[in-house]
Amino acid sequence: MKQSYQSITWQDDHLVILDQTQLPHREIYSEIHTIGQVWDAIKKMKVRGAPAIGIAAAYGLYLGVRELDAKNFTSFNVEIDRWIEYLESSRPTAVNLSWALQRIKTTVFANKDKDLEEIKEVILNTAKTIHDEDKRTCKAIGENGAGLVEKKARILTHCNTGGLATGAYGTALSVILHAWEKDQEIQVWVDETRPLLQGARLTTWELQKAEIPFRLITDSMAGHLMKTGKVDMVIVGADRVTANGDTANKIGTYSLAVLASENDIPFYVALPLSTFDINTESGDEIEIEERDGEEVTHINGSPMAPKKTEAYNLAFDITPGKYITGFITEEGIVKPDFKKNIKKILG
Ligand code: MRU
Repeated sequence: MKQSYQSITWQDDHLVILDQTQLPHREIYSEIHTIGQVWDAIKKMKVRGAPAIGIAAAYGLYLGVRELDAKNFTSFNVEIDRWIEYLESSRPTAVNLSWALQRIKTTVFANKDKDLEEIKEVILNTAKTIHDEDKRTCKAIGENGAGLVEKKARILTHCNTGGLATGAYGTALSVILHAWEKDQEIQVWVDETRPLLQGARLTTWELQKAEIPFRLITDSMAGHLMKTGKVDMVIVGADRVTANGDTANKIGTYSLAVLASENDIPFYVALPLSTFDINTESGDEIEIEERDGEEVTHINGSPMAPKKTEAYNLAFDITPGKYITGFITEEGIVKPDFKKNIKKILG
């Protein structure tokens, strides 16, 4: 399976990202040379999707520390903590961001006796490893999930979970790509995903590139399609899954899960193991990002609502584990009892 674009590329000494705010009409690759530019790209969602922001943050940490002129490991380490805190402040909900940064921190400690210039190289190499691993992980998620897709299935998906949101292929979208390789009669329903339209702008763009037919629907149509027997399966991604299986994902996911349950439709969440956060007991403890109300009151900078309209704009919601049929991971499918089986798959 080939993918003709990369959301993130490391080139010589800098990062190149495909600016997702410009898609689908303009394919603009932007160079990123500083940690501040990485923070800004994540905040403004030029790079987005849980695994992709983890990868970008990992490279971002390197861009921050490479200019450091610390006297010793202790002061170097203080600066690293400062940069980690800074990067983590860009978007709070997806655990992959702090997962990637903590992984680098652990590697730094394991190499603390090395020369500081060597430790900087270790940081860059760990970022590259996280990036490469994610590509392999997403392929395995797709292969594992494709086995769950029935012949001629009509699959509904939400937000964007493709190669744009990851190192390559995606999570839920990787399942769709791999299922399509086996059966060209599957059908895909793409939720537009208000307010930033990741479904309408990005998932459609990726499916067109893969030459997979789909139909775009408004978010509010999903329930009617389920009730009238036009959906066989729902597959979404995740930004953070807690120890009990509660799942933070793009706003609107919870409504889809309840509707799927009401209509006896399997509801799967596809994710890398790095999206599990077993240090958090339940979804009640997850910080949900609130974004600027203008994303709701405006489209492409033009107002839709009367002046001074105040919007409430939460980017994610929490789907209780009880609505989830299973988690599709690179290591296989996790079925209930989630509390027990999530722990088991993480080893
Ligand atoms: O706000 P976004 O566009 O970053 O939200 C993305 C999602 O909710 C995805 O479903 C999730 O990150 C999984 S992507 C593989």
